[in-house]
Amino acid sequence: MVNFREYKIGARFFGLALGGSMTITLFMPSFDLRNVNATEMALDKQLWAGHESGFSLADPFLRGDNRPVRVTLKVDPKTGQPMTNPVTAYVYPAGTPLPNGVDHPDNLGQIVEQLSQDKGRIGEASKAQGAVFVLNSEPQGDGTKQFYIENASATKGWTPDEVVKAAGDENTYHASYGKSIFVREGCWWCHTLLPEETQDWQVFGAPPMLGDFNGESPTAFGSDRKAPDILHVGSRNSSREWMMLHFFNPRLVQPHSIMPRFDYLWGPVDAKGQKINFDQWRAEYNEYVEGKRITAPEVPMYASNSDARALIDFVLSLK
Ligand code: HEC
Repeated sequence: MVNFREYKIGARFFGLALGGSMTITLFMPSFDLRNVNATEMALDKQLWAGHESGFSLADPFLRGDNRPVRVTLKVDPKTGQPMTNPVTAYVYPAGTPLPNGVDHPDNLGQIVEQLSQDKGRIGEASKAQGAVFVLNSEPQGDGTKQFYIENASATKGWTPDEVVKAAGDENTYHASYGKSIFVREGCWWCHTLLPEETQDWQVFGAPPMLGDFNGESPTAFGSDRKAPDILHVGSRNSSREWMMLHFFNPRLVQPHSIMPRFDYLWGPVDAKGQKINFDQWRAEYNEYVEGKRITAPEVPMYASNSDARALIDFVLSLK
């Protein structure tokens, strides 16, 4: 039994320690969050992900409505002439909600906000007409480059339709819809998107920097890791074929994987419009597992408008 007098003294010391630490936290912050500028990664991520790529009233069933696409432009959308360096553009067709940084530029930090407004003319972007954004940079006094958002519809006169057409389907990435699928399918039950400041560095890559998430919604960090962190998975494995096999049935490439198969994301038909016979595929796969076949059945190529394509576009964009 603790003597009541000792209990009272202990309680007072505890109060003092808690009060002290609260005072330090509240009155002596080590940095001011509002001064953190969005990094290049934050700008890229929010521009391809769009306004909200998780649960949102604009798309309650996460069906991919009103999502921007990221394209790689190899020809100029106005003149059709090849470009010296391919340009990454973020296309918001008419009616697509604009990204957070454009709607609320104070999320970007003071310097990026000012550059994006003055030089990038983001204030002129319109949801009703749609817009095309690119990233631009401005050299800073200390030798670094500060990236900002440029509204290419205002500065270059590029329209969403022209840019999508100039890029073509093979240079278009539906990563924003893919992120919605990531949320919808519960990938975050097992995977995190947040390497820690520990030995994670060696395996999963560097933890994010302050400012890498400015304007992103939702961040999809995950909480309880049962599987590899995939914040940088596109850097260590950029193979679309591997992703295709792995999502159709992870056991095709990792025999002991506990990851569920996501073959239903292919939808009813393959890239040629032919019906996918899932029953036959599984029967042949079981024969393969039992050693009655030498090779596993071939994984059908996904249709270009399938969920599988969007999810792979998302995963490969995690660099
Ligand atoms: C039940 C837990 C679980 C769920 C749910 C899950 N995964 Fe996995 N995932 C794993 C495990 C375990 C591995 C490692 C073994 C392997 O490669 O299959 C893995 C591996 C991966 C890899 C390769 C990682 C690397 O480091 O190369 C990717 C990419 C991936 N998963 C993406 C996804 C996506 C996207 C979803 C949602 C559609 C998902 N996973 C759902 C458990 C899970």
